[in-house]
Amino acid sequence: MDTLTAIHARRSVRKFRPDPVDREDLQRIVAAAIDAPSGCNAQLRQYVIVDDVEVMDKLRGFSHALEAAPAAVVLVIDPKPTRFGEFWVQDASAAMQNMLLAAEALGYGACWVEGAIRRHEKDIADMLGVPEPLRVWSIMPVGRPDGRPDRPEKSDPDEVTHFNAFGRKADRR
Ligand SMILES: Cc1cc2nc3c(=O)[nH]c(=O)nc-3n(C[C@H](O)[C@H](O)[C@H](O)COP(=O)(O)O)c2cc1C
Repeated sequence: MDTLTAIHARRSVRKFRPDPVDREDLQRIVAAAIDAPSGCNAQLRQYVIVDDVEVMDKLRGFSHALEAAPAAVVLVIDPKPTRFGEFWVQDASAAMQNMLLAAEALGYGACWVEGAIRRHEKDIADMLGVPEPLRVWSIMPVGRPDGRPDRPEKSDPDEVTHFNAFGRKADRR
């Protein structure tokens, strides 16, 4: 699948078929995250692949988006500043986006789960044995999609695109 096709075809998938996910595919998804850009190339990211049914069963209680997933990748980040400032949120986000696109390219559905787990962060860290000061930042459930969600309403490109100055539109040169 080419990159633009993956970008536009990707949707947040929260319903999955029960088929297990190959560990090699989960490792390919993590490899895509490792190749994401990183401020000062600090690479503060770690990944917990969850493909064990018992561990997954414990995880699925933390968000409805995880309930039907056969596997997940938990994105762990060290919230450490670099010598040019703090970039760890951006680093985590770039990794998550790469994982979503890699999952799409491999024919899986996936979802960026972050908001729903924020208040459970400590419980998830304890469950997975993630040591402080590392943060459990987001989780990507992954599996074969059970149906394809509709594309939600997105910004109109004409409304959010400006040419050479804010407010200048293509037909008003
Ligand atoms: C920072 C961030 C946090 C998110 N947290 C959650 C979440 O906790 N649970 C969930 O089901 N979806 C979550 N999402 C997915 C969004 O709901 C989804 O991307 C949005 O509705 C647009 O749909 P689309 O991804 O299909 O384009 C999150 C997305 C982002 C970028």
